[in-house]
Amino acid sequence: MIIKNGTVINPIDQTAVPLEIQIEEGIITAIGTNLKYSDQEKIVDAKGLYVAPGLIDVHVHFREPGFEYKENIETGAAAAARGGFTTVVCMANTKPAVDSKETLQYVIEQGQKTPIHVLSAACVTEGMRGTSITNMAELKEAGAAGFTDDGIPIMDKELLRTAMEMAKKLNLPISLHEEDPSYIQNNGIHAGKVAKQLGIGGSPSIAEESLVKRDLELACETGVSINIQHISSAKAVQLVREAKKRSDAVHAEATPHHFTLTEEAVLKYGTYAKMNPPLRTQQDRQAIIEGLKDGTIDLIATDHAPHSVEEKKRPLTEAPSGIIGLESALAVGITSLCKSGYLTLAELIKKMTLNPADLYHLDAGTIEIGKKADLVLFDPSETWVYETSVSKAENTPFIGQTLQGKVKMTICEGQIIYQDK
Ligand code: DOR
Ligand code: ZN
Repeated sequence: MIIKNGTVINPIDQTAVPLEIQIEEGIITAIGTNLKYSDQEKIVDAKGLYVAPGLIDVHVHFREPGFEYKENIETGAAAAARGGFTTVVCMANTKPAVDSKETLQYVIEQGQKTPIHVLSAACVTEGMRGTSITNMAELKEAGAAGFTDDGIPIMDKELLRTAMEMAKKLNLPISLHEEDPSYIQNNGIHAGKVAKQLGIGGSPSIAEESLVKRDLELACETGVSINIQHISSAKAVQLVREAKKRSDAVHAEATPHHFTLTEEAVLKYGTYAKMNPPLRTQQDRQAIIEGLKDGTIDLIATDHAPHSVEEKKRPLTEAPSGIIGLESALAVGITSLCKSGYLTLAELIKKMTLNPADLYHLDAGTIEIGKKADLVLFDPSETWVYETSVSKAENTPFIGQTLQGKVKMTICEGQIIYQDK
């Protein structure tokens, strides 16, 4: 296969240059101009398109095993492919949770049946109960990409320190959901003016900041690679900025919804704007954008969190938290960050490819000779309406919205796994 006429984004030096890419048996074999090719070779015309490394999302919930009515690994992978993602890391809050090598192997095996690379994190604590640490060494041996109790914060500081020391020894990252429940009256809604207007208690920023502060200190002490997940508060961004001066193993991710929307979205979209941690204020959103601009926040992750229509129809305080994000992430990134001039396309792509690959030690996230041909072809200017989802779920405020930036083709190991009609 040869991809011609496209502009190739290289996240290493953040350039975008007209180049051709040749692929043989799933591997990139040549990059250049006027490449020689035979008549039999398939030609992909990328005229007007950008060609980037396949996107990598280190934070998805594919709900299998246990909650397949929300999503399964097959439908989650289809949504990923449609969004331009070729690698995802599944979170461990399934049923059973991914706290044993048997469950982990099940997820990995199901993932291998999909056209993308489905990796899985394993739990930090057994059953995500926060009381005893899993057999992390055995889980690494069985293929764990990293460790997390995402969905539930880890409250026992000394336990977390021990887990961090082990993760450091195993050379795998720990990803942390930072929200101290003792401050929270209602999950998923910021304890601010909208919550007040609705007469509910909500979840204040301090719930996030207190744990971020504690865990950055622990991370600097232990030297472990950590990822502060779905950062949502201005102060938390500032804490990460300061910690990064002390340790280069500190990382943070932001979701497309947190850099695009604020608490007001709850009034418009109801439970489709309910997630943990919640959408906060304009000042928080701007601080997240500043963090993305200055490198404090080095990853963009979706927290793709499917829930059923029935569940999201429940009243605001009873519906589960979380929204899907894989199909709209690139477009929301382009619309909210690039169109407004906050990031260049190459800077955005780096936070969705190379940086997540580096954190998880993945041999992916670049376009280089000898590497797997995992690629996304997209038109950054095309506008489109996000009408339907190939996920089992449709719980996102972006459904029905006009977005800029359309994925046209996704290629994984040289195979076309998604093509826009
Ligand atoms: O809103 C959320 N939903 N945040 C999380 O961290 C977990 C997720 C879920 O599993 O639904
Ligand atoms: Zn999550």
